Amino acid sequence: WSSTAYKDDAGDLVVGGVPVADLVADHNTPAYVLDEEDFRTRARAFRDAFAGWDVYYAGKAFLCTAVARWIAEEGLCLDVCSAGELTVALRAGFDAARIGYHGNNKSIAELRRAVSEGVGRIIVDSVQEIERLEMITRDTGCTARVMLRVTAGVEAHTHEYIATAHEDQKFGLSITSGDAFDALRRLQEAEGIELLGLHSHIGSQIFDASGFEVAARRVLALHAQVSEELGVTMPEMDLGGGFGIAYTTQDDPSDPAQLATEMGKIVEHECRALGVDAPRLSIEPGRAIVGPAMCTVYTVGTVKPVTLDAGAVRTYVSVDGGMSDNIRTALYDADYSCTLAGRSSTAPPVLARVVGKHCEAGDIVVRDEFLPGDVAPGDLLAVPGTGAYCRSMASNYNHALRPPVIAVRDGEARVVVRRETEDDLLATDVG
Ligand code: LLP
Repeated sequence: WSSTAYKDDAGDLVVGGVPVADLVADHNTPAYVLDEEDFRTRARAFRDAFAGWDVYYAGKAFLCTAVARWIAEEGLCLDVCSAGELTVALRAGFDAARIGYHGNNKSIAELRRAVSEGVGRIIVDSVQEIERLEMITRDTGCTARVMLRVTAGVEAHTHEYIATAHEDQKFGLSITSGDAFDALRRLQEAEGIELLGLHSHIGSQIFDASGFEVAARRVLALHAQVSEELGVTMPEMDLGGGFGIAYTTQDDPSDPAQLATEMGKIVEHECRALGVDAPRLSIEPGRAIVGPAMCTVYTVGTVKPVTLDAGAVRTYVSVDGGMSDNIRTALYDADYSCTLAGRSSTAPPVLARVVGKHCEAGDIVVRDEFLPGDVAPGDLLAVPGTGAYCRSMASNYNHALRPPVIAVRDGEARVVVRRETEDDLLATDVG
C-alpha cells in the first residue's frame, strides 16, 4: 500500500486523505488511485539516496503529463522508450536535455525527432542505429549524444520475459563477444556523435543485488578497456533500473539508501582496481517509484463458490475490470493481494480468487486471497501495488474502456487521466 493509505473505523479505505468510497461515488469503478505524496516521496528517496548520481524515472512503468511534471519538480530525469512517451514528456514541458531515449528498434523518424528535440541521451541498441544516427546528424548538422546499451551476460533472477542481461535476448550488444567494443570504436569515430558512456539494464523486479554487482563489474571493465585501447574516457555510465517492490507481504522491497550504498561501493572498488576515474553514474527506477503509489479499485459484480476436487471451495469474485487493466497476473503469474475497501466485515474468511470480466479463464487479478465470507455484489475491492506496468500495459481487450487515473493528495482528488469513452473507441474505427 502507499504510505498514506489506511482503513478508517468503518472499514473504508482512505488514500491521500480521500475515502475511496467517495472517489467511487464521483468517478465510478474500475479506477486507479494514485497517491501523489507517496509517489513524490519515493522519487525524492531515490534522488537523495543517489546524491551525485542522476536518477532517470522509467516512464514505461507509468507516464502521464502530471507524473512527468512531478518528476521534473522532484529533480529527476526521465527515461522514455517510444515516440509516444517522448510526446507526453514534451507536452508536460519536460526539459529534453534531461531525457534518455531507449529502444531496440527506433525508427529513423523517431531518431530524427529525438536528435532535433535535443534529447539528452539516446541509448543506442544496434549497429543499424549508429548508421542511422550518422546519416541524421550529417543531414541536420545536429550532434547526437549517445550511450551504448551493452549486454553484461548476467542471469537476473526474475521472470524470463523481464530478464535482459543474458546473451540470448534482443537488447544491447554483447560485451563477451566483442560486439560492444566494435560498436564503441565505431561510435567514437563517428562524426556528429558524442559518446557519453555505457548503459546496462539487467532486468526488472530484482531483489538480489548480486546481479547488479556482476553487471557493474563487467561494464566497468569495458569502460576501462575503452579508455586504455581507444584512448577515450567516457564521462557517464548507467546501471539501469529493475529494483523489486513488495507485491505481497512475502516480498522484501528494495531500499534506495541500501542500494545506493551497495552500488556505490562496488563502483568505487572496481574503479580503484581498474585504475580509472569513476564516470558520472545514473540509474533508471520505474516500478520502485510508481508501483506502490497506486491501487486499483473495482466493484464486485458476481460471487460464485466453486467446489474443488478435494471438496474444498474456492469463491470466484468477479470484478468490473480484469486483464485489460492489469495483465500482469495472466502474463507473468504475478502475485497480488486485495482488500474490501468500502466497509468492514467480521464474517469468517473464505478462499477467494478475484477474476475480471473478460472472455477467458486466465483473466485473473488476484489468484488467492482470503476475503470475508459475506463478500457480495456491490462491494468495493482495492488491489494495492498496481502503479507500475498496469495502466501502462492496459488494453481495450473486449472493447473495454481503460480506467481513469485519479491522483489524491491532502484530501483532494484530481483526475489526471480520464476514463475512456465509447466515443474514444469508435474514433479509431473508421470503416
Ligand atoms: N531501464 C530500462 C532500460 C528498462 O528496460 C526498464 C524496464 C527500466 C529501466 C525500468 O525497470 P523497473 O525499475 O521499472 O523494473 N512489464 C514488466 C516489466 C518490464 C520492464 C521493462 N523495462 C512487468 O510488468 O513486470
